[in-house]
Parts: sequence; structure tokens; C-alpha cells
Amino acid sequence: MTTSTAPAGASSVEQAASAARARAPEPAVLDHEYDGIREYDNPMPGWWVATFWVTFFFGLGYAFHYYVSGNGVSVADAYEKDMAAARAEQAQRSLGESVTEEGLQKLALDAALMKDAEAIFGQRCLPCHGDRGQGVIGPNLTDTYWLHGGTLLDIHRTVSEGVPAKGMPAWKMQLSAVQVRELAAFIGGALRGRNLPGKPPEGDAFAPATP
Ligand code: HEC
Repeated sequence: MTTSTAPAGASSVEQAASAARARAPEPAVLDHEYDGIREYDNPMPGWWVATFWVTFFFGLGYAFHYYVSGNGVSVADAYEKDMAAARAEQAQRSLGESVTEEGLQKLALDAALMKDAEAIFGQRCLPCHGDRGQGVIGPNLTDTYWLHGGTLLDIHRTVSEGVPAKGMPAWKMQLSAVQVRELAAFIGGALRGRNLPGKPPEGDAFAPATP
């Protein structure tokens, strides 16, 4: 390329560029060098550094809230809580129906509901009936012998009305009707007939009718 073919504008662009270079302060050069390559000392812009520190401290607070303080409710926990409330509401609606053997059997098939019942059992019944229903003060609920009848309806009645003279509380006074039904279904479905070693059998043998 010769100067004669170069457009007049090109040299003015060059001039402008060199003028800009002259105006701009020369950035500081860091003192290390590798293979002749040197590095300018160009700090990150202030807004970038500020954003970094804001997110850094937010992250610390977030981790503390969820992993250290125990105050943070995880999405899974919130979901589980909502689902438990929904199940309770659904069960509440079924209260219109009277308690039947079949109805209680159906509750026993609802795994999530039975998990709720297991939790209530752990809070209310464990001290007298053992952590797995094997019996302590109260009888073994996992054998096939029952003092007050072994059908789901019998169990429901015992849990609801209790046996006050013998130290078994009437749970209808302390639990909701739904919870009493859940517990009867739980005992019938998850404990009855498991025959866990515990308190020796009391009462009469009972074989649940096989459907
Ligand atoms: C304070 C102790 C105590 C607590 C708490 C307790 N029970 Fe009992 N339970 C007993 C006793 C004692 C008996 C035996 C009553 C009898 O001898 O007639 C019994 C009997 C029963 C029976 C009848 C067993 C049979 O052989 O017929 C069922 C069912 C039962 N309990 C369920 C529950 C459930 C469900 C809970 C929790 C909601 C619970 N119990 C909490 C003491 C307790």
C-alpha cells in the first residue's frame, strides 16, 4: 500500500488515536514478567467489586440462616408442612362419614397419613406402649391378643374412649377426631400382628379377617 492510495482520512484516524494515547495516563505495569509478557495493573471497576462483596456477605448470611441457626425452612420442609396440612384438611372432610372398618382400612393404606400417625404415636403413646408398640406399661400392640377387641373399630373405640380405670387415657379429649382415626388405622395396619418381642400377650387371640 502506498501513501498515494491511502485515503486522507486514515492519517487523521491515526492522529486521533495517538492523541488519545497521549492524553490517557499510562496505566501502571506490575513488576512481574514472563517470556517478555508484562501485565498492566487494571483493578476491577468499583461497581464490580461492590457487587462481589454484597453477594459474598449475602452468601454468608444465607448459609448461617439455613445451615447454622436452624431458622431457615427449606423448600422440602415447607412442602412437607403444606402437604401435612392438606392431608389433615382432606381427612377432616372425610369426618362427615361415620367410622367403619373399611374406612379405617383405607386410611391405613395412605402412606403419608400413616407417617403423620407414626409421629403422633411417637409423641403420645410411646411412653406406655414403647417406641414400636411392643408394650411397656400398656399392652403390646404388635401381638394378636387384644384386651378390648382387635378389629380396627374396636381399636378406634379403645383409643377414643380409653380405659380410664386401667390408665389408658381417652384420647378423644386430647386429640382431634381425625388423629384418633389415623392412630387406629396405624395400629391396625403397621403394628397389629407384627409380633415384636415385648410385653407378653394379654387378652384374647384375634385373627383379622383376611380380605
Ligand atoms: C399412660 C399410659 C398410656 C398411654 C400414654 C397410652 N396408653 Fe394405650 N393403654 C394403656 C394401658 C394401661 C392399656 C391397657 C388397658 C387395660 O388393661 O384394659 C392400654 C391399652 C391400649 C389399647 C388396647 C389394647 C388391647 O389389648 O386391647 C390400645 C389400642 C391403645 N392402648 C392405644 C394407645 C394409643 C394409640 C395411645 C396414644 C395415643 C396410647 N394407647 C397411649 C396405657 C397407655
